[in-house]
Amino acid sequence: LDLHENAFAVCVDGVSKGVFDILPEEYTDLPLWDHGDALIFPGMVDLHVHAPQYAFRGMCMDLELMDWLNRYTFPEEEKYEDLEYAKKAYGLFVDALKNSATTRACIFATCHRPATELLMKLMEESGLVSFVGKVNMDREASPALTEASADISAYTTFGWINAVKDKFKNTKPILTPRFIPCCTDQLMEELREIQMAYGIPVQSHLSESKGEIEFVKFLRPEDPFYGDSYNDYDLFGKNDDIDTDVKTVMAHCVWSSDEEVELMRKNGVFIAHCPASNMNLTSGIAPIRKYLDLGLNIGLGSDVAGGHSESIFRAITDAIQVSKMYFRMVDEQYKPLVFSEAFYLATKGGAMQNLDYIIGSLYWSNSCLVVVKDSDYTDVPTFTNAVRGKKLVYELATPLELQATNVLSINTQKGLNTITSDSNGTMTVTYTESVKHYLDKQEA
Ligand code: GUN
Ligand code: FE
Repeated sequence: LDLHENAFAVCVDGVSKGVFDILPEEYTDLPLWDHGDALIFPGMVDLHVHAPQYAFRGMCMDLELMDWLNRYTFPEEEKYEDLEYAKKAYGLFVDALKNSATTRACIFATCHRPATELLMKLMEESGLVSFVGKVNMDREASPALTEASADISAYTTFGWINAVKDKFKNTKPILTPRFIPCCTDQLMEELREIQMAYGIPVQSHLSESKGEIEFVKFLRPEDPFYGDSYNDYDLFGKNDDIDTDVKTVMAHCVWSSDEEVELMRKNGVFIAHCPASNMNLTSGIAPIRKYLDLGLNIGLGSDVAGGHSESIFRAITDAIQVSKMYFRMVDEQYKPLVFSEAFYLATKGGAMQNLDYIIGSLYWSNSCLVVVKDSDYTDVPTFTNAVRGKKLVYELATPLELQATNVLSINTQKGLNTITSDSNGTMTVTYTESVKHYLDKQEA
């Protein structure tokens, strides 16, 4: 962990210029905001979350994946046909993210185009940065959620991408075949063409549960492993044969075979590790230490509502805990993750490498900061800031009123001047020593 005390986090036009103990001369004209004793974290990245499942998170956790989808999840997602319901439920989801430490997310919506566009509008208004996907499914969903044909699914997706691709600054479309069981070969073929036409990233699920993997084997017996079914349609990362680089996030990868892991490594596929979901749905434990040792790209996902909490702090602690169980119960050659590694997965692992890489542009840059609440502990002088930071994550502390939205905007000069108060309309600024030093210098 890189820790700075009384330091300056410099942001220019929404782009981080770094953290400095002494403010470099070139930045001394920038507006300044003092957060006193609060801890400032980089914004967390949720690399895999289902917005339409937020409303039923924490419920219905008694089944494994395939039954859970059919019994609970599909009926809930059907409700997003109704825009009034979508407005309420997506509103709750977006508010929850705004109040969390998450500043960037890769989001599944449903197969409904109008509700997906509504979600994108709400995400854009939140100031958070995200990819949002209209889900594709033309088989094996509930009747109401099964799109009428591959053509209709692809055609709707085509219209949706055209409508949203240049509409928002911070909210972009991502191609979202739900997973192989829900997508016919014809649909996958058509999604390949859409991906090639627009060059947009892809997200899906991979090797999450044993029942799912068995079903994929039944549906596509010719494929040597599950990931190959995506790769057949060039929806699985880089492909040197046809010189394309399809930025791909695959959630879970709990049971990936050696061949599958090797292809993910070779193709630069990003794994969204979702430990809470893997526990709740009795899916298993993804061998993250092994993947890290092999140099795979990995971030963390909440996978709400497989995961019951949207907190990426929670995902950090869960990732550490399940890695300990893997070490103890499965294979002692894979050492448990330590705090700094899981923190890395939730921030740089999910963003600097993964999302910057995915979007290939600066607006995903490491510029989103959140100021985190720990008022109970600032009075306890024996805790170092490093200890405070770890405790905060384990205690699932929430950010201050200055949330991601605002903090995103204070990263620009213009936005900074608009932040003047907390929720009560008052803001007490107490300058730290280094800021005082800076102000004195300004005055002199
Ligand atoms: N696989 C396909 N759909 C889903 C989903 O909604 N949640 C999880 N956890 N896995 C899936
Ligand atoms: Fe999921």
